[in-house]
Amino acid sequence: ATLTTDERALLEAARTAATGAFVPYSRFRVGAALRAQDGRLFRGANVESASYPLTMCAERVALFQAVNAGARPLAACAVACVDAKPELGAAERMPCGACRQLLAEHLAPGSAVIVDGVGVYEIEELLPQAFRLE
Ligand code: THU
Repeated sequence: ATLTTDERALLEAARTAATGAFVPYSRFRVGAALRAQDGRLFRGANVESASYPLTMCAERVALFQAVNAGARPLAACAVACVDAKPELGAAERMPCGACRQLLAEHLAPGSAVIVDGVGVYEIEELLPQAFRLE
């Protein structure tokens, strides 16, 4: 898939963000980058806990930064699982369900989610019929 210049820059930001991961248990670094409609970029990487379920995904680290900065609505997201095994294809690279829910709540409708090594999706494709409180 050919990425736009903006998409490629966001993907590079996600790959760079992955270097900040704290992953002593899985050794699986993930980086995420979000672009706000106003152009600001936010980055995150996963942070694991010795109490395993407390681990926080890269996407949500970036998302919470963006929301706290008042950067809604968000316009695009990139995710880079830099330690994914190439032979597994998409399996180790797609954003988890919890992150899809939060992305769906804060990305503008039709926003692109760029998954490194896989392709570009619209957020609605990744989470059809997302839960919302009206
Ligand atoms: N992880 C993410 O950061 N994002 C995802 O969407 C899937 C999983 C992290 C959590 C954990 O630190 C590691 O990847 C292995 O599950």
